[in-house]
Amino acid sequence: MKNNDKIIQHLAIIMDGNGRWAKKRNLPRIVGHRAGAKAVRHIVKACINKEIKYLTVYAFSTENWKRPAEEISGLMKLLIEFIDAEIEEMANNGVKINFIGNISVLPTKNQQKIAWAEEYTKHNNKLIFNIALNYGSRDEIVRATSLIVKDVELGKISVDAITEELFERYLYTKGQPDPDLVIRTSGESRLSNFLLYQLAYAEIFFTDIFWPDFDEAEFSAIIEKYNERERKFGAIK
Ligand code: FPP
Repeated sequence: MKNNDKIIQHLAIIMDGNGRWAKKRNLPRIVGHRAGAKAVRHIVKACINKEIKYLTVYAFSTENWKRPAEEISGLMKLLIEFIDAEIEEMANNGVKINFIGNISVLPTKNQQKIAWAEEYTKHNNKLIFNIALNYGSRDEIVRATSLIVKDVELGKISVDAITEELFERYLYTKGQPDPDLVIRTSGESRLSNFLLYQLAYAEIFFTDIFWPDFDEAEFSAIIEKYNERERKFGAIK
């Protein structure tokens, strides 16, 4: 981190453009996803170097089930391969892996690998690495609401106790600071149901680069721009 750098506690990324990256090269889409997984490896390291404490990547959304079955199973397999290939190095670098999303409906092998990876890295705290899998922000908010109602019904909390602070404790990102910036690659300018509650005050950056081409140079260029932005959180400065 350089002296005039603004602190980034939490970085969120919508990793888009794997398919187009592959298409441009006449390769199957899954090859693009594989190249995307390599870019994930690099961004994890870059976050450690830049002393970023939390990283959240969007790996599979609640809407991605609409994709062809072959692509879905390829992505699920890739995730297992990624954990197998990277966990040792990530664990040695102090990375804690944490999955957010509705994991309970994923293939059993994925659920087992996820539980194992979270357990294996649970004592680490240099970088909390959230992988959003079968994640949708609306689903997360509805789920939180339902859990709160249940706790009210059980008499654990009163309706008057429902504040923003309490609500946040029912989100998957419980206990984590909100993202300071969110990056979406591949030229699309949407949030696509990603961390809608948590991104309320985040700085948003869109870049034309396809996710597999996202490298440290592009990341540093975005951070330079982020450093120039003034974050007001609704106040006047
Ligand atoms: C969006 O690109 C990307 C995805 C839906 C999957 C993201 C997955 C990875 C980067 C690899 C595995 C993840 C981890 C954490 C190891 P797209 O397929 O929508 O691209 P397109 O818009 O060009 O078709």
